[in-house]
Formats: sequence, C-alpha cells, structure tokens
Amino acid sequence: MSQGLSGGIIIGISLGAVAGLMLLGFCIYITCYRKKNVQNQEFLSEETSAIVEVSGNAAYGTSDSMSPANIIGIRLQKSGEFSYEELANATNNFNLANKIGQGGFGEVYYAVLNGEKAAIKKMDMKASKEFLAELKVLTRVHHLNLVRLIGYCVEGSLFLVYEYIENGNLSQRLRSSDGEPLSWTARAKIALDSARGLEYIHEHTVPTYIHRDIKSENILLDKNFCAKVADFGLTKLIEAGSSSVPTANMAGTFGYMPPEYAYGSVSSKIDVYAFGVVLYELISAKGAVIMGGESGADLKGLVVLFDEVFDQPNPIEGFKKLVDPRLGDNYSFDSVLKMAQLAKACTESDPHQRPNMSYVVVALTTLTSTTEEWDITSIYKNPNLVNLMSGR
Ligand SMILES: Nc1ncnc2c1ncn2[C@@H]1O[C@H](COP(=O)(O)OP(=O)(O)OP(=O)(O)O)[C@@H](O)[C@H]1O
Ligand SMILES: *[C@@H]1O[C@H](CO)[C@@H](O)[C@H](O)[C@H]1NC(C)=O
Ligand SMILES: *[C@@H]1O[C@H](CO)[C@@H](O)[C@H](O)[C@H]1NC(C)=O
Ligand SMILES: *[C@@H]1O[C@H](CO)[C@@H](O)[C@H](O)[C@H]1NC(C)=O
Ligand SMILES: *[C@@H]1O[C@H](CO)[C@@H](O)[C@H](O)[C@H]1NC(C)=O
Repeated sequence: MSQGLSGGIIIGISLGAVAGLMLLGFCIYITCYRKKNVQNQEFLSEETSAIVEVSGNAAYGTSDSMSPANIIGIRLQKSGEFSYEELANATNNFNLANKIGQGGFGEVYYAVLNGEKAAIKKMDMKASKEFLAELKVLTRVHHLNLVRLIGYCVEGSLFLVYEYIENGNLSQRLRSSDGEPLSWTARAKIALDSARGLEYIHEHTVPTYIHRDIKSENILLDKNFCAKVADFGLTKLIEAGSSSVPTANMAGTFGYMPPEYAYGSVSSKIDVYAFGVVLYELISAKGAVIMGGESGADLKGLVVLFDEVFDQPNPIEGFKKLVDPRLGDNYSFDSVLKMAQLAKACTESDPHQRPNMSYVVVALTTLTSTTEEWDITSIYKNPNLVNLMSGR
C-alpha cells in the first residue's frame, strides 16, 4: 500500500496550497465561524469551506429533512467538524459490536449521531494522505451514486463521517448465504448505478478524478438497493488536458488491476477495467480472485476465467456454468450475455480498446430498460425517484 510523504510534509503542502485562499475568502469565513481548534481548522480550512458550500444549497436532504434531527444535522454540516466525544458517544466508544467494515486504511463503525444513522471511518494518523484525498473528493463531488460525507474529526485519529448505507457492501451481498439472493434486475441496476457514479468523477467534474480502487467491497447498497461508490482514499486527480498521470506508487487491489498498471501508466481506463471485474462478479457471484486447480491452491483471476470460456469453440455452455447458481432460471440469458460482453470489453488488456464510462452507462441503460419488466408500483415508492420528480 502507499506510504509516501510524511504527515508533516502533507500538512506543509496543504498549508501552502491553501495560503492564498485563506488570505481572501477565509478571512471573511473565519470571522463568522471561528473555532476553538485553530490548528485543525487551518489544516482543513479548504475542505471545511467546501462543506459549507454543500450544506448551503441543501440539495442533499432526504424527504424528511424537516425533522428536528435533520435540522441539527444541517447545522453540524456547516462546519462538518465533529469532536472525538461526539463520535465516541455515537459509536458506544467504538465498540466492536458497532464495527461494520475493515479496509486497508481503517475500520468502519456504525453510529447514531443526533438521531441519524452514520458510518464512521477511523484511520490511523499515518493514513493522512488517504484521509485528505477522500475528504477533498467527497467535499467537492456530489452525486446520488457516490457515498455522501457528513463530516470529519482530527482528534487522536483521523475520522470521516458518512451517511449510513443500510445494505452494506456488494461483495458480501453477492456472496453471503443469508438473505435473498440479488435478482438479475437488481444486479443490472447496481451495475448501472455504480457506472453512473464512476462516469461522473471521470467526465463531469472539474477537475476529473480516477478512483483507483474500484471493487465490490467499495460499492455500497442503500435500503432500496441503489448503489453508491465509496472509498476515495486512493483517488487521483487527473490534471486538465492530460489523459494519464504517472504512478507515484502502486495502489489498488489484486484481481482488479489491469496489466498496464504495472508499467506506470494510470488513466481512467484502470477504473474501467476494475469495473469490468465487478460486472463479472455480478454475473457469477465469484470473487475477483478464485482458488482453482486440483488442490485449490492455484489462484486465478476472474477475468482469466471468463476469457477462457469466451475462447472456447462453443462458449454458451461454459458460460451458463459461470452464472451464479443462486439465480436459478430467473434471469434473461440474453441480458447476462450482453453484460458479459460489456465486461469483456472493459477488461481488454489494451486500455485503448476499453470503452469509457459514458459508453458503459449507455450500454447498461439499454440493457436494464429492454430485458426486464418493471415493477411499476415500486417505482413510485422509490424515494430517489420521488426526489427526482420533485426537482432535486
Ligand atoms: N457509509 C457506509 N455505510 C455502511 N457501511 C459502510 C460505509 N462505508 C463503509 N462501509 C463498510 O466498511 C467497509 C470498508 O469501507 P472502506 O472501503 O471505505 O474502508 P477502507 O479502510 O478505506 O478500505 P480499503 O482497503 O478498500 O481502502 C465497506 O466495505 C463497507 O462494508
Ligand atoms: C452522549 O449520548 C447521550 C445519549 O445517548 C446524550 O444524552 C449525551 O449528551 C451525549 N454526550 C455527548 C458529549 O455528546
Ligand atoms: C463487507 O461487509 C461485510 C458484512 O457487513 C463485512 O464483514 C466486511 O468486512 C465488509 N468488507 C470490508 C472490506 O469491509
Ligand atoms: C425463481 O423465481 C421463482 C418465483 O419468484 C421462485 O419461486 C424460485 O424459487 C426462483 N428460483 C430460484 C432458483 O431462485
Ligand atoms: C466515450 O466514447 C465514445 C465512443 O467511443 C466517444 O464518442 C466519446 O467522445 C467518449 N467520451 C469521452 C468523454 O471521452
């Protein structure tokens, strides 16, 4: 994993970059919102003001945004800064029973903050680079299919506070045996949702970003099984005008990294490759890396497994065997095959052969709208749609 610059240097750079901004807007800002912890405030001032912008337009409230809890929530978002006591209290002192996830950079806890459900990622001080990357992206970039940041805390450890996403990560949803298996319609929708989130950061933000750690563990499912991309700790900025950035360090997860990554070339096409692997996971419910061979000791990538089947003289039979058995007969073979073909294009070894995310979104939109009947009654119960229709 990345262990580049020290925390001290990061702080130095941040302060330098922010200095100009602070001279102007921040002076006005600080007079209104002067905080006790001056050091932290300076360290994070750029991001803090971004959070103020966010809550200013109040576009991210839910339908019940007038409840007392939400009014407190909005007030807190004004600064976005939480105290350690608040977070400890909300997680029952970071009780193990509240722990809902474990990543390379931190532990994630379930919390109830001011009556609202939240997820708190606790990171070591050493992970300041990842912390700042995530804070930067999520305070500037907002989309229905990206996890929403509520705030942060920098006392003792580094904390990021997110909206709580009820149905956890896609990886465990696909592979755990408890609960109903995800239907094919739900899987196609999850693919489209996450493609939209990714398309947004690749193509519609200024500057644009590369996520660099797309995988099923980083796709979260909300209570309506709407998918949201999470974990922006490895996100890289793509400088305007250039299509690729040099790799300063290797980052990402085995099984999701494209071949060109090893040679130092990083473009948004690395996310497209990883997304293709996620599509194969949705089809097969298998992990990105699977145990194979007689002894079960050989490791094989999911991409290789699918490629082998596509290369067979008659791939259909082999392909049917790869489809998640938990789907039974309840899927459209045509639709599954189309998604597999899209996944194959996304995982081409030559990055130039891979489609971009706008193309992927269009392909998945066609796939979800033509192959399955819609449950019309559920549409009008979907709060996302309700929000959409009321113009938010
Ligand atoms: N907002 C959230 N709501 C519910 N669960 C969450 C939320 N954020 C994270 N999780 C859970 O915590 C897990 C780890 O989160 P995340 O990937 O952000 O952590 P990380 O330490 O940065 O991991 P990584 O090694 O991938 O960088 C997720 O897979 C998910 O199960
Ligand atoms: C801790 O939580 C309780 C309710 O669970 C609340 O009454 C109390 O004010 C909280 N303390 C702090 C410091 O937030
Ligand atoms: C995914 O979710 C499961 C169940 O909630 C959890 O045990 C697991 O740690 C999560 N994955 C990651 C990477 O945190
Ligand atoms: C397929 O769907 C039907 C009706 O919804 C259900 O009864 C059946 O158990 C499903 N089969 C599998 C294998 O999931
Ligand atoms: C994405 O790919 C399509 C088709 O290949 C192309 O027309 C379009 O310009 C591309 N979009 C971007 C933003 O690169």
